[in-house]
Amino acid sequence: MKTSREGKTPIQALSALHESASLRAVTGPALRPGGFRLTERGLALGGFSPGVRVLDVGCGTGATVEYLRNKLRFRAFGVDVSGCLFRESGSAESLPLALARAEELPFADCCCDVILCECVLSLVTEPQRALREFLRVLRADGVLILSDIYDRQPDCGGSREPVMYCGCSSMLQTRTFIEKLLGDSGFELLVWEDHTRYLKELAAQLILSSEPHTEIHEYRTILNSWCGSLPGSRLFSPGYFLLVARNSKKGERLNG
Ligand SMILES: C[S@@+](CC[C@H](N)C(=O)[O-])C[C@H]1O[C@@H](n2cnc3c(N)ncnc32)[C@H](O)[C@@H]1O
Repeated sequence: MKTSREGKTPIQALSALHESASLRAVTGPALRPGGFRLTERGLALGGFSPGVRVLDVGCGTGATVEYLRNKLRFRAFGVDVSGCLFRESGSAESLPLALARAEELPFADCCCDVILCECVLSLVTEPQRALREFLRVLRADGVLILSDIYDRQPDCGGSREPVMYCGCSSMLQTRTFIEKLLGDSGFELLVWEDHTRYLKELAAQLILSSEPHTEIHEYRTILNSWCGSLPGSRLFSPGYFLLVARNSKKGERLNG
């Protein structure tokens, strides 16, 4: 497997970035483009009332779970493959957070109204398996709110190869690919919105930050390239999306 300059595998390098205080110094406790503004947008599109059960998959520091519980009065809980961030932020004691992989959720069928998955699916090694797990734990007509990075280049009818980014194994997939993945997993897409301006905002913050972390430097290089300031900048076109999808399979089964 390819390793970074520091001898880390791509997944270890990315984990090191997400767990670094340097990234949090730039993003705050919500480790994603758009922060809580985009979470609120997704929730507004779904029109949920206080009391709904929301599972935050890949919850990072647990900041969103806290926000959902305290500000919006949702019954929110979270899981992450790494407990490092929520242990460090002290939220492991005060919030319902657990260690788990998106591909193997330790919850009963149909126990959630909403699954929130922000800036995580592009990092998951088996995204199709994770989406099937989301479907399993969502109630009939339950809703998935997903935001992530994607490739905005046209995919020439699906023949375009996914683009590696940040020198890691994660892939930038096209909208066509993501929509197919959702459909094949049993989700019906309700809303797709482009929010690339939030990625640009974060890119600018990273470029301007003086944080010394190696992976931040790698992010900066990629983002510089994307912004057109380096040769090769037209190779790919990262964007950021928000989507809302409904669990269609269970709805069909119940209605039928
Ligand atoms: C960019 S951070 C986003 C964290 C959080 N959603 C937020 O927006 O603040 C990505 C998170 O996904 C988690 N992650 C990566 N792969 C995962 C998997 N297979 N299952 C669960 N969490 C995963 C990482 O540990 C990390 O905390």
